[in-house]
Amino acid sequence: MKIIVTKDYKEMSSQAAALIAKEIKENPQALLALSTGSSPMGTYEEMIRLHKEEGLDFRQIRSLNMDEYIGLDKNHPQGYNYFMNHYLYQHVNIDTKNTFGPDAVNQNLNQAALDFDQKIKDEGGIDLILLGIGRDGHIAFNMPSNELSLATHIQKLSKATIKDNSRFFDDVNQVPVEAMTIGIENIFKSKKIVLVASGDSKSEIIAKFIHSETLRTDVPATLLKLHKDITVIVDKAAAQDLS
Ligand code: GLP
Repeated sequence: MKIIVTKDYKEMSSQAAALIAKEIKENPQALLALSTGSSPMGTYEEMIRLHKEEGLDFRQIRSLNMDEYIGLDKNHPQGYNYFMNHYLYQHVNIDTKNTFGPDAVNQNLNQAALDFDQKIKDEGGIDLILLGIGRDGHIAFNMPSNELSLATHIQKLSKATIKDNSRFFDDVNQVPVEAMTIGIENIFKSKKIVLVASGDSKSEIIAKFIHSETLRTDVPATLLKLHKDITVIVDKAAAQDLS
């Protein structure tokens, strides 16, 4: 596991964007899996800059959202479909036909979960996944639990995560209580993993994750330690409990 500590959020974002840009240049048809939340926003800003100022070309890139709230309309401003369009896709030359995510408004959610995994398989698997991390160590929406699902599944969200994510909503009661999320297998099968975290609020979980000498289903991020190509990029504030 490669760990990079940066001086601030901006540098964390540009380092993450540089790794993604490298992947795009080396593999112009790469399948990216991109996360939502405040951690990757700066990365997307930098990717947009690289596109506009340095011609980073997304024309053949394929991209997927790894999770989605259940119960929100496809264009809901707090939905992850909207998020990716708003913060990245509409600002670069990606063909939106090459973007997809879990169909969390499907009448048959179990079938939609199976279809999502099949689609990832049909596309040849993920080349690079950009992850954030929840304060409880969740990745995508794989929450701490006694067991973790390999496949895409429906996930009940913990009270703490609902509270954390309520900052994007007007009221905590509007936060969906369930989500559809990619499982551990597709995350793990991704050829490269980049994880970003910033700020004081992530320092405890970053230390727990990095220092852990066991794989812990109650800290899902610890499973990533077995991956052969993972880069963790954290700013100084998130790294403060590391030494
Ligand atoms: C959500 C998302 C995750 C994200 C996490 C942390 O729960 N499903 O993909 O990593 O929040 O979000 P933030 O970066 O806003 O702290």
